Amino acid sequence: MLAEDRSVHDWYRFVLSFPPHLVRTYLERFGLNKDNTVLDPFCGTGTTLVECKKLGINCIGIEALPMAYFASRVKLNWGAKPEALQQHASKIAIETEQELAYYKRNGRSNKTSIEASRTLESLPPEKTTLLIKDSISPIPLHKTLILLSVIERLKNDLFYDYERLALAKSLVTSTGNLRFGPEVGIGSIKSDADVVGVWLNEMGAMTADLADFGGINGAQSSVYCADARDLDRILKPESVDVVFTSPPYPNEKDYTRTTRLESVILGFIADKSDLRNLKQTLLRSNTRNVYKQDDDDKWVNNCEEIREISEMIERKRVDLGKTSGFEKLYSRVTMLYFGGMYKHLFQLRPALKSGARLAYVVGDQASYLQVMIRTGHILAQIAQSLGYELESIDLFRSRFATATKQDLREEVVVLRWPGK
Ligand SMILES: C[S@@+](CC[C@H](N)C(=O)[O-])C[C@H]1O[C@@H](n2cnc3c(N)ncnc32)[C@H](O)[C@@H]1O
Repeated sequence: MLAEDRSVHDWYRFVLSFPPHLVRTYLERFGLNKDNTVLDPFCGTGTTLVECKKLGINCIGIEALPMAYFASRVKLNWGAKPEALQQHASKIAIETEQELAYYKRNGRSNKTSIEASRTLESLPPEKTTLLIKDSISPIPLHKTLILLSVIERLKNDLFYDYERLALAKSLVTSTGNLRFGPEVGIGSIKSDADVVGVWLNEMGAMTADLADFGGINGAQSSVYCADARDLDRILKPESVDVVFTSPPYPNEKDYTRTTRLESVILGFIADKSDLRNLKQTLLRSNTRNVYKQDDDDKWVNNCEEIREISEMIERKRVDLGKTSGFEKLYSRVTMLYFGGMYKHLFQLRPALKSGARLAYVVGDQASYLQVMIRTGHILAQIAQSLGYELESIDLFRSRFATATKQDLREEVVVLRWPGK
């Protein structure tokens, strides 16, 4: 990965999100200047926003998932003094090590794992049931919770968010047992981990980036925790020059699951009802977040191609005798997904300046019983039906899907808004 693709971006990022240099390529193509504003309505962990900020371009992000929103927000704050942040982090590390040593003196971490799990710090049952089984072992969890409690106790508003984000990053990359391939799963189980050391390293990397980038930037940036299908109260009329974004695709990726460990430990999801409420704010892109009352499909009922794909998936399900609850939802989630994207593109129009350019990075999918869904092509059709002009559909990368023996294209759909 290019060195300039790491700084700040690496504070916390999704596996396989688009690379920062792709953002730069399109911002250059669109010929932006410092008076322009870029919007990323599905900003995730903030790749577009951080790139804009590095280039001194104003940007707005929207993200429905609290953990990703939090990451974007922190990654846009370059205000902390690096030495002071590092000193505060060192103090937290020392106090955490002291508390951990206290536990050790009391014999707790020397016990067998069954006894240890009774005496170590752990999460309450309603949170534990939210975690993917074995996503973190008892001793690393114990150390993480002690570290978090010290971050809380020594809370300093100037540093607090960075410290929590570094904890989230270390949970995903080192402290937990997660493996991404690209879906989240369980890798090798670590009985112990150097929780404090890893966290302090992350703080060191942040501090170094802040020393490189902090304090020199006049660009305005803001990020909202909101639903990109509901934009009218967030965006000012005719305020956006460029949209650069990567929405979810119609596959089985569940963003609440890929971020579950850190979301639960940092307190963004407290129990099952929180999780359900959160899933309802997301675009319906997987069968785990489809609800009875969902009706985004009404926006695309007249679109023949989407209906045909949905019907083909359902026919194939019946032919193959697939009867699980999730398989029965494959055809419905396809309609709901494109309906949600229709609603988003519909709601976006008043916020766009005349001549605004838009780039949507999306991938073809064949996750639903191997029926090919050409996401970019369909999205372009939906956009054109709403008055957008199609400029191009560019191939960004492709991957060979062994199941279907076909190349799945990841594309950039480039649109232009001609004005009212
Ligand atoms: C492909 S990811 C974007 C990754 C991003 N480019 C990055 O740099 O991390 C899609 C994002 O859309 C978010 N999302 C899903 N439904 C949404 C909605 N209705 N409104 C806003 N964001 C949503 C997901 O939580 C996820 O973070």
